[in-house]
Amino acid sequence: MKLSIEQAGAETFKDKRVLVRVDYNVPQHDDGSVADDSRIRGSLQTIGFLHKAGAKVILCSHLGRPKGKKDEKYSLRPISKRLSQLLSDAAGCTAKFVGDCIGSEAEQAIAEMKPGDVLLLENVRFYAEEEKNDEAFAKKLAALADVYVSDAFGAVHRAHASTEGVTKFLKPSLCGFLLDKEIRMLSQALDPTRPVATIIGGAKVSSKIGVLQHLLGRVDTIIIGGAMAFTFFKARGLEVGKSLVEDDRLDYCKELEKEAEAEGVRLILPVDVVVAPKFPGEGDVLPAEPHVVSIDAIPSDQMGLDIGPKTIALIQQELAKCKTIVFNGPMGVFEHGYEAGTFRLIDELVKLTEKGVVTIVGGGDSVSAVKAHGIQETQFTHVSTGGGASLEFLEGKELPGIASLDDAPRAASTR
Ligand code: 3PG
Repeated sequence: MKLSIEQAGAETFKDKRVLVRVDYNVPQHDDGSVADDSRIRGSLQTIGFLHKAGAKVILCSHLGRPKGKKDEKYSLRPISKRLSQLLSDAAGCTAKFVGDCIGSEAEQAIAEMKPGDVLLLENVRFYAEEEKNDEAFAKKLAALADVYVSDAFGAVHRAHASTEGVTKFLKPSLCGFLLDKEIRMLSQALDPTRPVATIIGGAKVSSKIGVLQHLLGRVDTIIIGGAMAFTFFKARGLEVGKSLVEDDRLDYCKELEKEAEAEGVRLILPVDVVVAPKFPGEGDVLPAEPHVVSIDAIPSDQMGLDIGPKTIALIQQELAKCKTIVFNGPMGVFEHGYEAGTFRLIDELVKLTEKGVVTIVGGGDSVSAVKAHGIQETQFTHVSTGGGASLEFLEGKELPGIASLDDAPRAASTR
């Protein structure tokens, strides 16, 4: 229920300097060029809208963790090149780059802007004040513009000067198209059309406790995969061999199973797993045939690395009942060859999306798995651009970079 730039209307931005916080913290090749431009593409609609509205579009972002010091390795300059290429196709304009985000160099570059121009400022994290949410630094950023727009979903869980502090000095503070869609879709994940299943995977129960807890009572089924399943199995008293287990979470797992039962939530765990004697490394030769065992027969010298075919069939059956599916975390070590479970699941989600099921993919690892499998983001209802941010959203936390934006008037709100 935040006021979007679309609701504010194009006239709000005519001839205005608009500071747009984007999240261009993108993977790069060794030469600095962009390895994955999804986050840049995700910002094009907002930039195009503001460009067309006659705004002076001033983009700011962080890249990496340069620890408050200028470091060329983390310069946004190579990102501006990719941005310009994409913008010229999408909006018929390009972006200039300036080597600072505050001070005379930035002020000069902004003073030279004409309506419709786009400028990318240098990495805001070259100043330690950014992560400290320093008020004086936020004021300096705010002084560069007349209006603030956030489209940096990936960074809204950070209370930093450019994501939160600046909103105290710039009004209106609005959300862009990318952020607006993230809020709508992830809110839908928490208040879904039912039946709904959430698939939670990944290595550790501890990193997903917040989500698991928040989802109980909101979903019909929770499907657990990935190494975190072994902590549940050990809690049930099963032999898990050398599988990854968080011994300090065994009680939590027992408790969660009880709570799920009390809430009427079906908790589905794997029934068979793929095992190997050790965790796979780069360049390891994998066995020609996966060694699949039932979860009550994991040999003591083996570790579970993926879900097995019976589990995949079980998950397919469960998903077939659903109108909404949230996918958060891989089913196995897909990065090192144990990808069958995760990829089959992704294929299933694509098929279900085609049939009209709402599919929401959140979290860095699940998105990486989708990409590793060569599936387009458009083949799902929504793929989040946020890692930590989408996790915290699904945990039901208030995210400072969203909370600090202007609320939409009730009538204008669609959420
Ligand atoms: C991300 O990639 O998750 C965001 O850009 C946030 O980055 P951070 O974890 O360095 O704050």
